[in-house]
Amino acid sequence: MKEVKIEATIFVYENLASLPADISFLMQKAIEARKRAYAPYSNFQVGAALLLDNDEIITGNNQENASYPSGLCAERTAIYYAGSQFPNAKVLKMAITAGSNNKITNKPIPPCGACRQAIAEYEIKQESLIEIYFMGATGKVARSNSLANLLPLVFDKSVL
Ligand code: THU
Repeated sequence: MKEVKIEATIFVYENLASLPADISFLMQKAIEARKRAYAPYSNFQVGAALLLDNDEIITGNNQENASYPSGLCAERTAIYYAGSQFPNAKVLKMAITAGSNNKITNKPIPPCGACRQAIAEYEIKQESLIEIYFMGATGKVARSNSLANLLPLVFDKSVL
């Protein structure tokens, strides 16, 4: 038996103002998208913005449904739209912000496991890393240099 250690490195920026200008712009797009979220059941709004290598910025937000499992997270709304509209473009960067009507969200809020799995598919398909920035509605912003870093032991096509 041997022990296998898995490490993840996250970089943390103090606030929106300390982000590089292009990322701050992308996060602003995610914030605008978050404000358009349709989240009447959870009252938890998420916005995502993707920068593609063709210079397009694609945004998405969570879309809920009276039949709860039929809703979709912001990250998947955005990345599936990008994949459907620009199948050959690579996703370079992704900015995510989450807010709530019920509490203050001032810590970085990472994408859920299902969204990590979905984003992983595109990172593997495009053979280049997706830089991911995530935050609450305010406060610190975390950066992961790849999706793989957020999802060790990914389930991917190599096992099929
Ligand atoms: N949600 C997202 O949009 N992204 C995530 O990564 C986690 C959760 C949404 C789904 C649901 O509409 C609400 O947030 C509460 O879970």
